[in-house]
Amino acid sequence: MKFIHVTDPHLVAPGELVLSLDPLPRFEACIRSINDRESDAELVVITGDLVDRGQLSAYHALRTVLDTLVLPYHLLIGNHDDRNNFLSVFGEAWRDESGFIQGTVETKQGLFVFLDTVQQGKSAGEYCARRCRWLQGVLAKSVSQPIYLFMHHPPFDIQIPFLDNIGLESKEAFVDCIDAHDIRHIFFGHVHRPISGSWRGIPFSTLTSTNHQVALNMRKITHDRYSDEAPTYSVVLLDSVSTIVHTFPYMHNKPLSI
Ligand SMILES: [Fe+2]
Repeated sequence: MKFIHVTDPHLVAPGELVLSLDPLPRFEACIRSINDRESDAELVVITGDLVDRGQLSAYHALRTVLDTLVLPYHLLIGNHDDRNNFLSVFGEAWRDESGFIQGTVETKQGLFVFLDTVQQGKSAGEYCARRCRWLQGVLAKSVSQPIYLFMHHPPFDIQIPFLDNIGLESKEAFVDCIDAHDIRHIFFGHVHRPISGSWRGIPFSTLTSTNHQVALNMRKITHDRYSDEAPTYSVVLLDSVSTIVHTFPYMHNKPLSI
């Protein structure tokens, strides 16, 4: 199966900018490119920071753009999102029994599990005991199938201090929560960089935002945090033996003449 991973559009109210960039046309270009090139995919997942300042008008702008997408989509929230404003525009979103925006989708290749790692009002994430109980219930009912996890905050440090300072808190509790299950891959957002590898034997991948990027800066300094690297989306191909992630810079891909 094929699906598309998009992350961190950071939309704002019309006329506002984020780091001197207008997130809306960049996100519109992303959705146009997916419609033009990847309409045979099964779904699109956006892993949080849907908007930058939690504004209702930004969620309305998001909905307007997503109404043009020819594929089904699933939305996670990130630390820049506002749960109530999000739900007032996307009332159909999943909620678990505690009200967290978590849910699952059955696919041919296994179960996609969408997590809510947001602590409202804080940049750092958390995966609390109530959320963990929900996830353990999902995993307990799915022992015979591969699991693909989607979350905003990565469950480990990525060695960029600026981002690790606002990472997931209580990482050990999250490890206990997923331990001993067949997690095939973790897809996350939050870091605004193209990163892949494995963690505790679990492969992972993430990608750049459709708006601004975080600079590859592993020093503990506070300037040069952001960069103008290209926005991307990922085309993910899954079958029973492989996970292939192609990341596409949809605004910077002119063919070269031979
Ligand atoms: Fe973000």
